[in-house]
Amino acid sequence: MLFLGKEISTPLTLASGILGISFSSLQRVIRDGAGMVTTKSLSIEPRIGHEGPVIAEFDGGLINSVGLTNPGIAEGLEEVEKFKSGIDGVVIVSVFGANAEEFVQLARAVNDSTADILELNLSCPNVEDEFKRPFALMPDKITEIVSAVKAVSKLPVLAKLSPNANDISAIAKLTEAAGADGLTMINTLGHGMVVDAVAKRPVLRNNFGGISGPCIKPLAIKLIHDAYKVVDIPILGTGGVSTGLDAIEMMMAGAAAIGVGSAVYDHGLDVFKSIREEMETFMEVHGYAQYSDLIGILEEN
Ligand SMILES: Cc1cc2nc3c(=O)[nH]c(=O)nc-3n(C[C@H](O)[C@H](O)[C@H](O)COP(=O)(O)O)c2cc1C
Repeated sequence: MLFLGKEISTPLTLASGILGISFSSLQRVIRDGAGMVTTKSLSIEPRIGHEGPVIAEFDGGLINSVGLTNPGIAEGLEEVEKFKSGIDGVVIVSVFGANAEEFVQLARAVNDSTADILELNLSCPNVEDEFKRPFALMPDKITEIVSAVKAVSKLPVLAKLSPNANDISAIAKLTEAAGADGLTMINTLGHGMVVDAVAKRPVLRNNFGGISGPCIKPLAIKLIHDAYKVVDIPILGTGGVSTGLDAIEMMMAGAAAIGVGSAVYDHGLDVFKSIREEMETFMEVHGYAQYSDLIGILEEN
């Protein structure tokens, strides 16, 4: 099947931030049944991120405050080259900047690499904003960043949206109007806080973090469906998928491909193989010939 003009073996995609950037682990994901991998979000300079613990499990999923730790765009793209020289799989390079100029600089660097798709992580804080709100919640900033990147990018551009936006349909439409070739949705929800009652402290060193995993799946599906109804660009649906049925539900709601993140923590890399096999079984039993037959076929009551 095709996603943004790229041939992919399955719609399954490693979500950003889950396995870092090491090319060998990214290659394993493709061998296990993913069609695409997303790198950790890369910035111009390396970033150390927050002090640990940065990730914790709770009943419904995960909470993390990794703090955008990454080795910087130059080293990240070296890993992409090694990945591409060893395996046939589509690489999405995720980037984040402090302003539109930095996003443009990152897009130019990715232009000169073997990456296939550029993803803009708009959930990083706008350092110029008094309250350091993320770009993904500011419609004018989304328009500014996406249109500036589109003016220079040689690659298709995915804009990654936040579930915290007030009106996702409006955000999806203006992101499409700014020129995005596709949407990735959703990033982590919140922030939330998980407490250790014995220690009388939050479990994360940073006190709060973004929520992911099974508990966000119904929200992800609703937001994807809302966006699907108002845009004509493909959606890389992400949020709480850990089984083949989860992936199928999300595709029926409108996703053209499926990101898998937290499930890798819970079930290991084998989760790609099991999701793919479960999808194939469902499709065979219910008479769907190809993955693309599932996209957006949900009928509302
Ligand atoms: C530990 C961790 C690190 C993450 N780092 C990034 C990141 O660097 N960039 C990004 O765009 N999303 C990041 N995310 C968000 C995921 O890519 C994904 O959008 C979100 O977790 C929802 O999917 P899931 O429920 O399958 O995990 C991270 C998520 C987790 C759990």
